[in-house]
Amino acid sequence: MRRKLAAGNWKMNGLSDQLAEVEKLCGAHPNPKVEIMIAPPATLISSMVVTAADHPLEVAGQDCHAKDSGAHTGDISAAMLKDAGASHVILGHSERREDHDETDDDVRAKARAALAAGLKVVICIGETLEEREAANTLDIIAGQMAGSLPDILTGENTIIAYEPIWAIGTGKIPTLEQIGEVHDFIRSKLEARFGDGVGRSIRLLYGGSVKPSNASEIFAVSNVDGALVGGASLKADDFSGIIQALE
Ligand code: G3P
Repeated sequence: MRRKLAAGNWKMNGLSDQLAEVEKLCGAHPNPKVEIMIAPPATLISSMVVTAADHPLEVAGQDCHAKDSGAHTGDISAAMLKDAGASHVILGHSERREDHDETDDDVRAKARAALAAGLKVVICIGETLEEREAANTLDIIAGQMAGSLPDILTGENTIIAYEPIWAIGTGKIPTLEQIGEVHDFIRSKLEARFGDGVGRSIRLLYGGSVKPSNASEIFAVSNVDGALVGGASLKADDFSGIIQALE
């Protein structure tokens, strides 16, 4: 059985006062039946770890460098995230791919570095609207999986987030059939590449305009093991509604 996961990605949002939402969230779910993770900006990782010290909430980074250390001003290594108390790192988010020209090769190198540092990785993939309309979605997904996933991984240390780019922050979501088609496809690709055992144990998150109002129907889709949530993870009440839908 794959454990359900509600993951929040705060992106470039949140000053110290935003941690009050984490306190509220932890208070609302003292013994969550599902795994809960939040990826705050790097500046809040350590303080979020302290805020959630008595709670199973996991804290994640939003990116890391592929190298362990060195002359890379402004970057952060996997070991630094781990040292700050993070357990996971999100890699290959479409905003990183677009804003920083990250390629599948870059994402794979970062994933290798993160796994070597003892972090778990959440690797993001997803198509643009043009690719969707040209009926290229599954080819794009296959290419991103082939390029972004390292050869050695486990169901324990790797999570995949399917985030159609056109659904991020837009309020639009694919139909449930479209979500199911992509998640089933990802599962079959994982089984073919990593074998049935590992392929079936990797969790698949859906991301893109998930809200309390649409979470239940999305979570009922086959091979959806949870969500990677942007905007609705910033408010404890909204994220709590999504967690409840998963429980
Ligand atoms: O990584 C989460 C994300 O890109 C989805 O954002 O705001 O549409 O939930 P949002």
